[in-house]
Amino acid sequence: MKNDLSGKNAVITGASRGVGKAAALALAAEGVNLAVCARTLDALQDTVKEGLHEGVKIYAFAVDLNDPEQTVQFMRDAENALGGMDILINNAGIWLSGKCTDIPLEDWQKTMNVNLTAPFLTSQYFARSNIEKRRPGKIININSQAAFNGSTSGHVHYAASKAGLTAMTVSMARELGPSGITVNGIALGMVDTDLIRDAYFKNEAAYNARLPIGRLAEPEEIAGILVFMAGSGSDYMTGATVDASGGMLMR
Ligand SMILES: NC(=O)c1ccc[n+]([C@@H]2O[C@H](COP(=O)([O-])OP(=O)(O)OC[C@H]3O[C@@H](n4cnc5c(N)ncnc54)[C@H](O)[C@@H]3O)[C@@H](O)[C@H]2O)c1
Repeated sequence: MKNDLSGKNAVITGASRGVGKAAALALAAEGVNLAVCARTLDALQDTVKEGLHEGVKIYAFAVDLNDPEQTVQFMRDAENALGGMDILINNAGIWLSGKCTDIPLEDWQKTMNVNLTAPFLTSQYFARSNIEKRRPGKIININSQAAFNGSTSGHVHYAASKAGLTAMTVSMARELGPSGITVNGIALGMVDTDLIRDAYFKNEAAYNARLPIGRLAEPEEIAGILVFMAGSGSDYMTGATVDASGGMLMR
């Protein structure tokens, strides 16, 4: 099956490492031009260097998604650089720890800003722009099994932000379907990235007991699914959250 992705333009948040970097490189290999961000340009160097080998254009931006103004400015810059957008992957996310009795308001707000408000603002920008240009598009939200299971190890703010992302995915899918913009999510379990590595190896047996597949996912395994979700093979899919959780989430 052809993905028909060559020549498309994608915006990806948090592409310096982990799932975002793997998604960027997998899309670059399909011929997709990219605008990517992370907190520093330095952190994006490898993604840019490796992606350029695929012969696509890659534009990198230093952005703190905790800041709504920087988030919207990133979308303006990304659109101007690419000359139009076909795919938006809301990937960046933070996973702070804390029991509900201890979580400081600052951590709660930062989690909501990065994991939920930033995806809202990027999606809003993408939708406004593409509706005005009568350009179809695909928004993909990187979600977590915690959105459905709740947190099991002290991440109430994270689980709540991701549950919000699920509701946002469904709600935007309904509103934007008639304009040719699809909105989907992917619920991950445990992927071998800096985000979870320490927590996983401190508690490997307990995590594996929740993973019927019995191991972490590699970021590249997730990127393969994202290529399908970004391509024309998924044109009839909207409002869905695909579970790619090694069986951590079954519903
Ligand atoms: N790794 C897992 O097991 C797992 C499980 C469930 C969901 N997820 C989700 O997958 C997504 C990617 O996670 P990952 O594991 O690759 O994480 P990661 O920590 O390896 O990478 C996160 C990326 O987001 C960027 N980022 C974080 N905060 C930012 C900010 N304030 N401004 C700009 N960029 C920022 C980082 O620079 C980095 O590029 C996240 O949304 C996460 O919640 C991951």
